[in-house]
Order: sequence, then structure tokens, then C-alpha cells
Amino acid sequence: MGPSLLLSLLLLPASLQAGSSKECNPNIDFGVNQPASLSAPEGGSTCISFSYFHCWELAKDPRLSIAVRRTDFHGEVIYNSTKRFIHKDYKNRISLDLREDQNSGTLYIRNLRKKDENRYFCRVQVETLRDGKQVWQSIPGTKLTITDGLQTKARTVAGESVQNTEEKYENIGITGQKTEPKLDPKDDGGILYASLTLSSSSPAAPPCTPSKESPQETLYSIVKAQ
Ligand SMILES: *[C@@H]1O[C@H](CO)[C@@H](O)[C@H](O)[C@H]1NC(C)=O
Repeated sequence: MGPSLLLSLLLLPASLQAGSSKECNPNIDFGVNQPASLSAPEGGSTCISFSYFHCWELAKDPRLSIAVRRTDFHGEVIYNSTKRFIHKDYKNRISLDLREDQNSGTLYIRNLRKKDENRYFCRVQVETLRDGKQVWQSIPGTKLTITDGLQTKARTVAGESVQNTEEKYENIGITGQKTEPKLDPKDDGGILYASLTLSSSSPAAPPCTPSKESPQETLYSIVKAQ
């Protein structure tokens, strides 16, 4: 029993490796995950968190490019990270936070208008080592619904929470500078952002609802990456 157990232990890593490389088929195993639907109030903001996967070996310079289309799969491009293009309907209202090492990113749309209610599709392009340029896109996209919550009763609540967080921010700023001027304010900024999210999320949708992962963790990593 001893030798055979040892043998199987020795063989285990090799068989695992062989199994995993066979399982990923570049022709079918690629995709983009993004939330099926989101809703946010007019005047508020939203963020579409997405992640992508594939099993091509990337070129030395993969030249990752992210684009976003609206309406349908072949719809108008409203954003392109390579060209730094933003459709005129979204001027000064769109930004992308890309985490290339995690194959993911977040698209923010601020100051939402009723007309922003639409379906949004993330599109990914990379240069691969042996298979040239590859482009793929989410098929269902994200359905964004614009509600009219923020401008009526939610406004007073939002005003209050902004005031509160401003006070908090001042306090944090002072303590942060006393200890470590560089690192602390950043970390506190993360906490501040999280608490602001929580306090303003009760009347309306939270500004960021990542698809299935823990919201706090994702939020934190976004703040850290800035
Ligand atoms: C972004 O624009 C560039 C230049 O026109 C284009 O080659 C690329 O395919 C676009 N990116 C995506 C993901 O469609």
C-alpha cells in the first residue's frame, strides 16, 4: 500500500496538469461575464463590472482593448479603450477601470439620463501568440434600467449622507496625516467609499453591483487599484 500511494502522489500533479490543459478549448472556451441586469436612478451612477476568460496564449504585448456596444450585439460602439473613444451621448460620463491582471474591469456611467436605459455589451480584443488577433463579446449584455428615484424623495436622504461623509472624511484626513501621510488616506478612502455606498444605497440602487462576487471585496480592490 505504501509504494502505490507514493506513486499516485507523485503522478497526481502531472495528471492534473494534463487534464486542465485538455479541458480548455480555445475555439469554444472564451466569454465575457457581466450582470444580466442593473438598475440605477436618473441622476445617479452605475457600474457594469465584467470579467472575461479565454485560453489563448497571449502575445508579449497583448494590446488588450475593451469596447462597449449598446442596444444589441451589433449595436453602436459607445466606448473604446484603445481609441479613448466615448460616444457623444456619454461625454464626460463614462470611465473604465481595467484590471488586466485579473481579466476584469468596471465601466462607470455617471449622471445617468433616462435615455441611458439600454442594453450594454462588453467586447474584448487581445493579440495572441499563435492565433493572431481575437475579439469576443458578451452575448446577452447587461440590461440597464433607469428609475426616477433620486430626484424626488431620495434627494434629501442623499444630501444628508453626503454631509455626514464629509465630516467623516475630515476626521480621517487628520488622523491619516498624523500617522502615515501616504498610505493611510488611501486605505481610509476605501472605507469611506464603502460607507458612502451603504448609506446611499437604501433608497435607490447602489452605485456598483458586481455580478456575483462579494460587493465589498470588489469595491475594495477597485479603490486599491486607483
Ligand atoms: C477599438 O478600436 C480599435 C481601433 O479602431 C479597433 O482595432 C479595436 O478592435 C476596437 N476594440 C474593440 C474591443 O472592438
